Amino acid sequence: MTSFTHVELAIDAAVATIRLNRPEKKNALNPEMHQNIHDALTEVEHDKSVKVVVVTGTGDAFCGGMDLEKCFLEPFDDPEQFDASNQLAVSWSRRLKAFPAVTVAKVNGWCFGHGFQLAGICDIVITSEDAVFGMSEINFGIFPGGGTMWVAAHNMTRKQALYYALTGESFSGREAVALGMATRAVPAAELDAAVDAIVASLANKNVHALRTTKQVYESAIDLDFAKSIDMELAKLYELSYRTENEWIRSALEQFKRKAYRPGLQSYSLEAER
Ligand code: ACO
Repeated sequence: MTSFTHVELAIDAAVATIRLNRPEKKNALNPEMHQNIHDALTEVEHDKSVKVVVVTGTGDAFCGGMDLEKCFLEPFDDPEQFDASNQLAVSWSRRLKAFPAVTVAKVNGWCFGHGFQLAGICDIVITSEDAVFGMSEINFGIFPGGGTMWVAAHNMTRKQALYYALTGESFSGREAVALGMATRAVPAAELDAAVDAIVASLANKNVHALRTTKQVYESAIDLDFAKSIDMELAKLYELSYRTENEWIRSALEQFKRKAYRPGLQSYSLEAER
C-alpha cells in the first residue's frame, strides 16, 4: 500500500486500487490530490502485471469534483496558477482515459463535476443505487468542461446529456444505468462484492487480450465498418504474435479437450501460471 497525501494506492497481483481519500471534503480534488493521482498512475504503469485498476472514494463520496476553492476561487487571479491547476486535472484524465489496464469506477456516493468525468472515462462503472451523480457546473454559472461534456456526450443521449448539463439536476446510481453513465447499480451493501466479482473475472483473462480489446473499441468507434474490419483483423494478428498464439495453441486446444465452455467460462491461463 502506498499512501499519497490524499490518495491511497494498493496493488494486489493483477489489481490496483486507487482510493480518493479526502472524505472530510467529499474527496474534492485539490491540486495536491491531482498530483497524487498522477503519481499513483505512474506507479501502476510501472507494474506490468496489473490488469485492472479500480477507482473509488473513502466515506460517503466517490468524488465531489474539483475543489472549488483551491482550484478555481483561490488561483483565479493568477492566470498561470489557474491554468496550471486546470492542466494538472485534465492531464491525469487524459492518462486514465488512455490507460492500458481495464479501469473500473466503484461509485460509492457523491459523484459531481470532475468526479462525474472520472467515472465517465472509466471502462466499467459499478455504482451503489443511491449514489448521486451530477453535472453541477450550471448551478454556479459555468458549463461542464475539462472533458466532462465529452463524457456526457459519449455516454448519454443528446436529450439526456443536454437536460442534465442545462438543469444541473442530479440523478441516482440506479438512474445512471438507464442514462448510460453506469454499467450496473447494486445496493450499497453489495457494492464491494459486486466489484470484487467483476474484477476477479477480469483478472482471469489474458492481459494482452484485455488491452487489445480496449484499443480495438477505441479505434472502432471512430472508423467506418470496412476500415474497422481491416483494423480488427490487423489487431487479431498483432495479439496472436504478442501472445505466441495463445488463443489457438492453448485456449482453443482446451476447448477441443472440452475443458471449458467459452460461452460460459474463460480458458485456463497456462502461460501465466
Ligand atoms: N470543493 C471544495 N469543497 C467541497 C467540495 C468541492 N467540490 N465538495 C464538498 N466540499 C466541502 C464542503 O465545503 C464542506 O467543507 P467544510 O466541512 O469545511 O464546510 C465539506 O466538503 C463537506 O461538504 P458538505 O457540503 O457539508 O456536505 P453535504 O453532505 O451537505 O453535501 C455535496 C455534499 C452535495 C456533495 C456538497 O458538498 C456539494 O454540493 N459539493 C459540491 C459538488 C460540486 O458541485 N462539484 C463540482 C465541482 S466543479 C468541477 O468538478 C468541474
